[in-house]
Amino acid sequence: NGEVYRYYADGEWRVSGSGKSVAIVNPTTRQTQYRVQACTQEEVNKVMEVAKVAQKAWARTPLWKRAELLHKAAAILKEHKDPIAECLVKEIAKPAKDAISEVVRSGDLVSYTAEEGVRILGEGKLLVSDSFPGNERNKYCLSSKVPLGVVLAIPPFNYPVNLAVSKIGPALIAGNALVLKPPTQGAVAALHMVHCFHLAGFPKGLISCVTGKGSEIGDFLTMHPGVNCISFTGGDTGIAISKKAGMVPLQMELGGKDACIVLEDADLDLVAANIVKGGFSYSGQRCTAVKVVLIMESIADAMVEKVKAKLAKLKVGPPEDDSDITPVVTESSANFIEGLVMDANEKGATFCQEYRREGNLIWPLLLDHVRPDMRIAWEEPFGPVLPVIRINSVEEGIHHCNASNFGLQGCVFTKDINKAIMISDAMETGTVQINSAPARGPDHFPFQGLKDSGIGSQGITNSINMMTKVKSTVINLP
Ligand code: G3P
Repeated sequence: NGEVYRYYADGEWRVSGSGKSVAIVNPTTRQTQYRVQACTQEEVNKVMEVAKVAQKAWARTPLWKRAELLHKAAAILKEHKDPIAECLVKEIAKPAKDAISEVVRSGDLVSYTAEEGVRILGEGKLLVSDSFPGNERNKYCLSSKVPLGVVLAIPPFNYPVNLAVSKIGPALIAGNALVLKPPTQGAVAALHMVHCFHLAGFPKGLISCVTGKGSEIGDFLTMHPGVNCISFTGGDTGIAISKKAGMVPLQMELGGKDACIVLEDADLDLVAANIVKGGFSYSGQRCTAVKVVLIMESIADAMVEKVKAKLAKLKVGPPEDDSDITPVVTESSANFIEGLVMDANEKGATFCQEYRREGNLIWPLLLDHVRPDMRIAWEEPFGPVLPVIRINSVEEGIHHCNASNFGLQGCVFTKDINKAIMISDAMETGTVQINSAPARGPDHFPFQGLKDSGIGSQGITNSINMMTKVKSTVINLP
């Protein structure tokens, strides 16, 4: 209806002085669905100023009160699950049921964060000096965790709510202020989520949400001297951010090429179910999606048949109908995916289904007999297309996994637990799942990537720790 959603600063919903807006294109209709403010650098400066002031008071607010407000926000978030999920359906074509789960999971994440924060931040340490050679017991060191200051959170389009609260919750419980820059696709869902924190009654200026073009405010935000920590989830942009950011702690999750290694003794029904779920949920647009299957040649035919049968049953269509496969987020994503598929086709991969695309909607495709000279063997499609590479030894599978520039997660299917653990040890990834597809959750588990997949470790506990620093006071006795 032409209305432009306002951005959130100093506890108010504001119109940008730029007079400009950014369009959010519905991936299904490919029409403009919403518009958000195109914030200016000056507005970012203002937000940083008030955040700094609000943070000082927030850090002095008792921990139990901070937790109480987070619990309140979590409850409000869950109450608002329907309108927020509707935004996710329209902005990022997330299947309706998954959109609801994302919001509910987010509420649970915020509550758990409040509880975990109370536990881990409520503890400090006392050290005595005489344990170190040459010292008497005349020094007592009291240390506890204190906030960093202003945390900048930049979540990706695929979980604009959940991967926002996974940064907001830990930042706030630890006594930080929070500036959120949501992804363009997903910005309205994120603004609505921020509204839930607003309703919970957090102090003015403590949380802000600035929307706009990355080209205008992206670098400006990440290089801003007011920022004391950056938590980013997304693609290659994260590598650029890590090079430009100042001397502040960084938490980065930047995608993956999660390998699924299948041994000869694996339960093939379990493998097929996990390949379909792991490779194709939300149309493959998850960092933790299965992105390459490395399967022993002797069982490959049987597994491919099982996966084909399951893929044939997936519902392909609009997210409103709760389809399994929905349009990918943008036309350029669809074009990129198509480029990988065409390259594999030219180089002789076997298509298990006919390649089909209408607009941003790509039908699920399994590519068999993929070889290392094909781009899809290494690149991350972020779409419903999955390569299968046939291997003749486990070492070959491990070698392919480790030759990737990514190292987020991986999985191995076998009934032999000793082999599974040896393979897990050999895979250079942040996590290895045994007999299940990769996944970030449960959200309190550590979540980290090696190499180009990221910096630091997430998960509720790790994020709280990362958004604090240790402060010591030493009592010196005469
Ligand atoms: O793509 C984002 C990544 O964090 C995936 O999360 O829950 O789908 O494993 P999840």
